[in-house]
Amino acid sequence: MSVTDPAAPADTGLSYDLEGKRALVTGAGRGLGLAVATLFVQRGASVALCDIDEPAVNAAAEELGDEAIAVHCDVTSAASVQGAIDATVGAFGGLDVLVNNAGIEIGKPMHEISEEEFDALMSINVKGVWLGMKHSIAALAASQGAIVNMSSVAGLGGAPLLGIYCASKAAVLRMTQTAATELRETGIRVNAVCPAFIDTEMVARLVDPFEAATQAEFGDVVALKQGRLGTAEEVAETVAFLASDASRFVTGSHYVLDNALTASVM
Ligand SMILES: NC(=O)c1ccc[n+]([C@@H]2O[C@H](COP(=O)([O-])OP(=O)(O)OC[C@H]3O[C@@H](n4cnc5c(N)ncnc54)[C@H](O)[C@@H]3O)[C@@H](O)[C@H]2O)c1
Repeated sequence: MSVTDPAAPADTGLSYDLEGKRALVTGAGRGLGLAVATLFVQRGASVALCDIDEPAVNAAAEELGDEAIAVHCDVTSAASVQGAIDATVGAFGGLDVLVNNAGIEIGKPMHEISEEEFDALMSINVKGVWLGMKHSIAALAASQGAIVNMSSVAGLGGAPLLGIYCASKAAVLRMTQTAATELRETGIRVNAVCPAFIDTEMVARLVDPFEAATQAEFGDVVALKQGRLGTAEEVAETVAFLASDASRFVTGSHYVLDNALTASVM
């Protein structure tokens, strides 16, 4: 059996831009999802911005112009996810990229988390990613497309106040690896990104509970562990790479964006 690609030229000519790509981004009303959708449009893609927050996603799509549409979607509902994929394919004629970004945090010690909070977190962060992948396979197989799942450095280890969140992001990594293997023959690539603390509303919401529980200044901990907060635009750049043809041989991987947070044991 030959394991070389006879069609692969020495100069691949693989492009980092997203010209003509048709993308669906969940949780695109604000934060990382909005930064991803914005960069995708700048790089030439048409983007369906999907979010449970209808006013936010409508305003965001309006701002991005003709290459963006807003789709109301709750990633915890199979029917809603299928509807968002159908709306994207209907508007753009197909789907090349799915970014499973929607997620929530709950900043509490594990023993204080209620059953309802546990279920909500797992439903959005884990089931939502699974539903996105499950319902997009037919459309993505037709285009040999790419899936990028939003994990976190919290998926790589434990963190105070984020125990169930850590569990949910670890699950995203394991689903990413399995899907990449199962889908390789379809041509669909599946990767994940693992950002550390990024400057979004999610992190702003964690400051008070973190400081109350640890008696430490959140800013000091961030400075010590990761130098500074990352920006949503920095995360979007890596998502764009994984969505582009330049990452053609990358699947089943996760990219860590943490300014050396996880490189240090001190
Ligand atoms: N901000 C960080 O430091 C950081 C770091 C690592 C990973 N992440 C992950 O990145 C993703 C985005 O985080 P963010 O900081 O932009 O958060 P955010 O809270 O600012 O935005 C999350 C978006 O997801 C939407 N959303 C929530 N529930 C939804 C649902 N059921 N269906 C559809 N949309 C829903 C919200 O309306 C919101 O627009 C999350 O998965 C998060 O876990 C964030």
